Amino acid sequence: MSSIFAKRMETLGTETAFEVLAKAKALEKQGKDVVHLEIGEPDFDTPKNIKEAAVKALYAGYTHYVPSAGIPELREAIANHIAETRKIPVSPEEVVVTPGAKPIMFFAIMACVNPGDEVLYPNPGFPIYESVVNFVGAKPVPVPLPEEKDFKFDIEFVKKNITKKTKMIIINSPENPTGGVLEREDLKVIADLIANRDDVLVLSDEIYDRIVYEGKHESIASLPGMKEKTIILNGFSKIYAMTGWRLGYGVMRKDLALKMAQLMTNTNSCTSAFTQMAGVEALKGPQEEPAKMVAEFRRRREVIVDGLNKIEGITCRKPRGAFYVFPNITRTGMESRELGDYLLNDAGVAVLPGTSFGKYGEGYLRLSFANSVANIQKALERISAALKKL
Ligand SMILES: Cc1ncc(COP(=O)(O)O)c(C=O)c1O
Repeated sequence: MSSIFAKRMETLGTETAFEVLAKAKALEKQGKDVVHLEIGEPDFDTPKNIKEAAVKALYAGYTHYVPSAGIPELREAIANHIAETRKIPVSPEEVVVTPGAKPIMFFAIMACVNPGDEVLYPNPGFPIYESVVNFVGAKPVPVPLPEEKDFKFDIEFVKKNITKKTKMIIINSPENPTGGVLEREDLKVIADLIANRDDVLVLSDEIYDRIVYEGKHESIASLPGMKEKTIILNGFSKIYAMTGWRLGYGVMRKDLALKMAQLMTNTNSCTSAFTQMAGVEALKGPQEEPAKMVAEFRRRREVIVDGLNKIEGITCRKPRGAFYVFPNITRTGMESRELGDYLLNDAGVAVLPGTSFGKYGEGYLRLSFANSVANIQKALERISAALKKL
């Protein structure tokens, strides 16, 4: 019997974090206590000045349609922020505001990648990259991130796997799920590889750019000749604890921005108006709150890394950015998914198997440390006790 669904739906993937969250919620409903280390969102509240700006905007009439590419004040604030931090000229016409940063991934691939094209992307990496590449009928080419190289892009692999068909290279620094950070030299190697290729774009996912614990964030768009080839993806979800607001953006050449805006017109019409005004306050207002959040993440990173390394069978590198650890669990003798299920059902700790981030994630788990120190300690005790039972 023919399916009611279009053929292309067979190629669309998903983000397992939401599935594990649903399983954990079901267990909680049965009365089980679960520590949530599966979902990637700050546990802090959105700073008060940002909430107040949204309320003010609501009462000032920001309750209607606005331009598809974003409200001019926000596009300008984003352009200035990116110009200042990346040290490149950016005009408001090169900014597209979207409901969350995720649509930029979808739109960039939809707009620029043809069936049969090849897309290099990090693996383990954010699962939506591979999902959308498959969805448009292109060929995903997963680039391994070796643990011994601090989870950086395997450049030798990239060199060998760039072909005439390569249309896009996706990079993510700091990286979800590994916490790996690409340095200027790493970015330079990628830039050099495509120096003579005007047909290749880089989608640079910089959503964790301000959550860096050692060194500083570098954007590939800052390298000579790269601004024109780069689509920067960024947003407010992580650094301002605004995941539920749905506010993100892309920065790219004007011709690309026009196409993304057209995709916005075809899908969402525009991003919520009062939310955008809150975004202006987020960027232009005081920055103490996000700085405090990063300091707290740094403290939790110590607790979780030290704690995991004390558990028999687990070794854990210190992530250099974002708020995830990606411990190696091969010495437990269990596969990632099996261990993830065991920890949820037996220990009441929700984590993600490394394979939720692609095939090279086997042998690892991802734990988010966007949770209180007390909860992290509770989780560590439970994991340790559960592994001793094996
Ligand atoms: C690497 C990466 N990019 C993009 C996003 C999406 O962000 P948003 O919630 O703003 O759509 C996430 C969220 O988890 C992420 O981890």
